[in-house]
Amino acid sequence: MTRFSDPSRLQSLIEGLDRFTATPGKGTNRFTYSPEFRGASDYLRAQMEAAGLVVREDAVGNLIGRLEGRNPDLAPVMVGSHFDSVPNGGKFDGPAGVVAGIEIASLLKERGLAPERPLEIIAMIEEEGTRFGGGLLASRVLTGAVDMQQFVAFSDDDGITVAQAMEAYGLDPASAHLAVRAPGSIHAFLELHIEQGPVLEAHGDDVAIVDRIVGVGQIRATFRGQAGHAGTTPMNARRDALVGAVSALAQLPDLARAAGDGAVLTVGKMEVRPGAANVIPDLVTFTVDIRAAREEVIRALIDRACSVIERAGGNGVAVEIEEELFIPPAPLDAALHERLSHHAGRLGLKRRTMVSGAAHDAMVMADFAPTGLVFVPSRGGISHAPEEWTDYDQLARGVDVVFLAVCELVSAALPA
Ligand code: GLV
Ligand code: MN
Ligand code: MN
Repeated sequence: MTRFSDPSRLQSLIEGLDRFTATPGKGTNRFTYSPEFRGASDYLRAQMEAAGLVVREDAVGNLIGRLEGRNPDLAPVMVGSHFDSVPNGGKFDGPAGVVAGIEIASLLKERGLAPERPLEIIAMIEEEGTRFGGGLLASRVLTGAVDMQQFVAFSDDDGITVAQAMEAYGLDPASAHLAVRAPGSIHAFLELHIEQGPVLEAHGDDVAIVDRIVGVGQIRATFRGQAGHAGTTPMNARRDALVGAVSALAQLPDLARAAGDGAVLTVGKMEVRPGAANVIPDLVTFTVDIRAAREEVIRALIDRACSVIERAGGNGVAVEIEEELFIPPAPLDAALHERLSHHAGRLGLKRRTMVSGAAHDAMVMADFAPTGLVFVPSRGGISHAPEEWTDYDQLARGVDVVFLAVCELVSAALPA
């Protein structure tokens, strides 16, 4: 079987990047614009330069390494993924696709393959939404899918806005809009990602070529009551925000079960304030993340979830609901799917076509440029957890598939 990429080099990049976590030994905690994020960005910059790329940080902190084309005026092919993490996440979710891009640049350089078209390797900010909510922010900024006034005003759990965090990171929020790309300015976008589920491993497949990404909707519910003393306030005189919130929470999973069609609903983040055993909670917020393959199913589920949440208010507890994210299901580019499948076949890999249940920047990019997404197996199907693991040989096979597609897209000679 022909092999191009080097598993040990991929391992060294993944491990090198994983040093930049706020919780060494306890999973990856690397949040956008944090000191660990800066460390990771500096590390990636050095690795990109070593791979022969000219590196710049764009106006919102995406790191972009460029291999100039013989015709620099052509729109570049872009390859990459994100380098932020969920809380106590794994070291592959995001970084696998970033190091794939760096490895592809190294392969082109080593083989003296000069591209006609420029190649840009991108390491993206805030895909997970861990710090500022919503997520997919780099791709939403690049493609003009988020209002830039809103972008700089998003805030984290400590009330620090994107603008303030950018300044602390060394970026000028007044220039954030410069990160937006003009329509037509990206020739194609390719992302490699770990599957984050059990399918490839269960079937003994090497890679999946994704043809569709399920849609995602996220709302945030806020319950406001009145704080009071836990010992002295009679039960019938309370405006307990948590009691209302919990009654809504208990009903939400059944909505997704009833919707069928593979719909899933998750309440993954909840805050109870002031958060003391002897104080009646006056403020509760929680997120609801809803995913399904069909847009109408997501919309209907959001409506039903909103009704349940609204009905759980009353008795002096006020309820507000905000939409944080809505990205419809995204079909990926059919021609790129064909091309990636062809190369996987040429490499003798066992492959399948798959729908992605996880969100990826590729789903936003798909509206902007022809987009392809390649999955490599996740051991035990585990992801968003410190145990997340992909064998480096398997990662290398996925990188090879993307490498061959990149060679064609940038019009470099295909390696033998
Ligand atoms: C990202 O991992 C997501 O699917 O939300
Ligand atoms: Mn993730
Ligand atoms: Mn990811």
